Amino acid sequence: MHARLHAVVAAAAFGLAGAALAEGSTMDEIARYREMLAEGNPAELLEAKGEELWKKPRGPNKVSLEQCDLGLGPGALDGAYARLPRYFADTRKVMDAESRVVHCMVTLQGFREEDVTRNWYSKPGQESDIEALVTYIGGRSNGAKIDVPARHPEEARMAKIGEYIFYRRSGPQDFSCAICHGQEGKRIRLQELGKLTTQAGAGAAMGNWPSYRVSQGAVWTMQRRLIDCMRQARWPEPKYLADSIVALEVFLQKTASGTVMQTPGIKR
Ligand code: HEC
Repeated sequence: MHARLHAVVAAAAFGLAGAALAEGSTMDEIARYREMLAEGNPAELLEAKGEELWKKPRGPNKVSLEQCDLGLGPGALDGAYARLPRYFADTRKVMDAESRVVHCMVTLQGFREEDVTRNWYSKPGQESDIEALVTYIGGRSNGAKIDVPARHPEEARMAKIGEYIFYRRSGPQDFSCAICHGQEGKRIRLQELGKLTTQAGAGAAMGNWPSYRVSQGAVWTMQRRLIDCMRQARWPEPKYLADSIVALEVFLQKTASGTVMQTPGIKR
């Protein structure tokens, strides 16, 4: 686990080292990355907490999540995240890891959806069970190849919708995802934006989430990442677990298919 972690962090620090030549303030970030490197990824704590939450009988029904079906059968976790989002016959919906965990907490454990999703992301002093669970589930795909061919008609439809959203310009600034993420080497200030339209680019992005964000001091899930990017595009903020987010995930995971997951990651 540690060799992998060091490789991820070293790559992040190396990327920033080039930028530091151009601007001094980036040095602070490098210093923080060095600290992280010495201490390990804080996301690993959350991963452990997620495992506990997964295995513990909870909710009105007092059962664990161990029978939750993430697409590979009840309880089958290894490599499941790398194959999401996918179509689920029981809900007749294409679901990502986060919507499926919420579904299991509601259907197996008997929680109410609004209670489960109220704290879908952590704030200072307030942890999020979903964040921990998804970090654990993601970690169980570490080293697995992303494999979202989107062959089922519903998956193919979502991939198309995701692609459409990615390229569609709208909002007060007439932004699209592609404006920021459609070119090699594009930066805002000194942040690498990442080209998400190639297999390598999408893989480098998708394969590291959930990720500990050094700039935020918190682990972010893919839902949070994409909802925040909608905000960056000055678009109306979608609801947590919205179909538009899942559609973007299908499109990006399909593009990233064949690349290997290294998660939890560390990102700026
Ligand atoms: C105004 C520019 C901008 C727009 C528009 C934008 N993003 Fe982003 N995106 C960013 C920035 C900045 C980051 C974070 C880079 C960093 O912090 O290092 C980011 C990060 C990401 C990441 C994570 C990349 C990685 O390497 O892990 C994904 C995935 C992503 N954006 C997808 C999208 C999608 C999908 C859309 C359209 C809904 C979108 N973005 C719109 C600026 C933008």
